[in-house]
Amino acid sequence: MLATEKSFVTRALSRLGSENAFQILQRAREIEASGRRVVHMEIGEPDFDTPENIKRAAVDSLLGHDTHYTPSQGTHELREVVADYASRFRKMPKPYTAANVTISPGAKPIIWNILSAILDPGDEFVYFDPAYPAYASASSYLQANTIRIPLHEERDWRMDLEELAARVSDKTKAVMINSPHNPTGGVLLRSDLERIAELANKHNFLVIADEIYSRNFYFDSEYISIAALPGMQERTIIVDGFSKAYAMTGWRLGYAIMPEDLCKAVTLFNNNTFSCVTSFVQKAGIEALLGPDVAVREMNDIFRQRRDKLVGGLNALPGVRCTLPEGAFYAFPNVSQITTDDKKLASFILEEAGVACGGGSSFGPAGKGYLRFSYAASLADIDYALHQLGEYLPKFKG
Ligand SMILES: Cc1ncc(COP(=O)(O)O)c(C=O)c1O
Repeated sequence: MLATEKSFVTRALSRLGSENAFQILQRAREIEASGRRVVHMEIGEPDFDTPENIKRAAVDSLLGHDTHYTPSQGTHELREVVADYASRFRKMPKPYTAANVTISPGAKPIIWNILSAILDPGDEFVYFDPAYPAYASASSYLQANTIRIPLHEERDWRMDLEELAARVSDKTKAVMINSPHNPTGGVLLRSDLERIAELANKHNFLVIADEIYSRNFYFDSEYISIAALPGMQERTIIVDGFSKAYAMTGWRLGYAIMPEDLCKAVTLFNNNTFSCVTSFVQKAGIEALLGPDVAVREMNDIFRQRRDKLVGGLNALPGVRCTLPEGAFYAFPNVSQITTDDKKLASFILEEAGVACGGGSSFGPAGKGYLRFSYAASLADIDYALHQLGEYLPKFKG
């Protein structure tokens, strides 16, 4: 603080949260730099390399001089490819067009821009707890009236539909859902989606469906998007992107799909914030969606093997129990028999056992007493992590 005691940052800043996984990652890297082994299970990022054909498309585009601004909504070419892919993948009754799509540098900024475009101070915004931290951060910054509805471990991390019905009303502006879910790996069933759709149609609210993990899905049935249910295409905003499915976290490429008038409003925020997404990265996105899909399927097969090993191993540890995640790449074990101070336990595990993971309460109050492990680590690393947990968990003094 300067001598004048004048604060140079806004009061609004105090309403912002942050994604704790990035802080844990930083500490984990410091420990590694001191020469100790750390298994990284803290951050939601596939450890695979981006498939070669996608990298080649970006390089060719760059060398071909795609080095200039593009429209704020994204190139027409990429938006058409996204619209076509999304309509087929989600079996939309009416195909989307390029006018429904807006491109962003990753899914996170588009969540911010969507909420900025639809929420006035005091507007009612519903999301589920625990949740990806960006929802709480953006909605509290915007001074929305946020309603958090708990997800339940005993329901495989789905909500109680009666509780949802009791807490939404004509005043609700939007409900945010995320399936497969970060941090629990839970997946909403068709019956859940149908009930949410029924409530949305009854009370005339928007549904924002964060479907970033729609390709990291381990049910043997097909993925169901709420957008494809009757009456929902006109009131659903889909958030998706390339980070998780194509191991492209560092490229920063995501998108949202929605009715055209809303898309214009959200694009105005793109225009005022990032202007447009890197031109040659957009070309890489076209290749990701049009090129061979083998790499995505191979990555998912590996994720499934890792999930089975990790969850089996966690359930064998005294004081730990873990539901089987049906999507994404996170396990969310209950450690409340060991402690309810999950952040302290996560920090102990990192410092003493060399395993980086997140405390469940970083994702909201309902995450208290849980840990989040991202299984974006090799089977050998998972084996080592389980061995370390077996040795160090009994030594934790809550
Ligand atoms: C549920 C959810 N939505 C959005 C994102 C953001 O993805 P991106 O890296 O493309 O910004 C993440 C990343 O962890 C996520 O878990």
